Amino acid sequence: MNKKIHIPPSEITPRHVYLSRRDFLKAMGIAGAGAALLAACGVPEGGGAQSPAGTAAPGDAGIGRQTDELGDGVNTYEDITNYNNYYEFTTDKQGVASLARDFKTSPWTVEVGGLVDNPKTYDVDDLLRKFPQEERIYRLRCVEAWSMVIPWMGFPLASLLKEAGPTSDAKYVRFETLNDPAQMPGLKNRLYPWPYQEGLRLDEAMNDLTLLATGLYGELMPPQNGAPLRLVVPWKYGFKSIKAIVKIELVAGQPSTMWSTIAPNEYGFYANVNPDVPHPRWSQATERRIGELKRRPTLLFNGYAEQVAHLYDGMDLSKNF
Ligand code: MTE
Repeated sequence: MNKKIHIPPSEITPRHVYLSRRDFLKAMGIAGAGAALLAACGVPEGGGAQSPAGTAAPGDAGIGRQTDELGDGVNTYEDITNYNNYYEFTTDKQGVASLARDFKTSPWTVEVGGLVDNPKTYDVDDLLRKFPQEERIYRLRCVEAWSMVIPWMGFPLASLLKEAGPTSDAKYVRFETLNDPAQMPGLKNRLYPWPYQEGLRLDEAMNDLTLLATGLYGELMPPQNGAPLRLVVPWKYGFKSIKAIVKIELVAGQPSTMWSTIAPNEYGFYANVNPDVPHPRWSQATERRIGELKRRPTLLFNGYAEQVAHLYDGMDLSKNF
């Protein structure tokens, strides 16, 4: 892992002391600024596969592990970092970690521009210094119908956008991933219209839940999870949560996204988690939490309706999928 990113040492916690640090923060009354928070892909989950090979089930994490605001325990670090979708490396979920091991994340710059008053290219180290890092425990629901609970570190995208100052013409935000074939072997696969790109409506991007994540489990982000900087939009299918961001652009019109370019009838721009809107090839009514045997019902907006349902007032969610 790169050493040059300056997170205060107090923010960097080995996994084995993580839980006790959390207890400490809790005792101090500051557990997770995320406490404020209460807390595509290819083929669907067949429901047959169990916890990724060679990893502990989350239940093994032990008594006292962190939970989301619904009381569900966080997945293990091993699960979160060994079962990944990252097509720039490979479409094999369990092969990403080893292929991404030496991915160079420093130096790294992120260009923030387009329809803004203050366009600027940031060094990611400066972003880490500038914006206080918070912990947010979020559910991640993949469109393939598996899910995990992940303790992210990061800061609200809104903080960065406010600094950029969107002009009155800016209505959407467009994101782009690094496109470096020398480091990302999956880019040789010409089936995909690289670079990976994603987008949000400006009000979605400004919602407090929307996170620019820089780490997980109190550590800097592992390469396979999108280091050094990735988006996390917890009420949307995981493919919206774009990894290894190099560009953030404010634009007037709805941007193209990689998955909706490949299959517009299967992957919409909104991609809100919705048990009542099936994917054309499979149901979204239930999901498999990694590490659990029984499937569980999928929640509208992945359980975050209270915070985000108002964004879609008056919209037909089956048409605007
Ligand atoms: N971002 C990029 N650049 N490339 C990808 O292939 N996959 C997406 C999303 N972000 C992907 C990406 C999908 S389909 C999911 S489910 C999540 O990342 C998975 O995040 P995780 O591996 O950290 O669990």
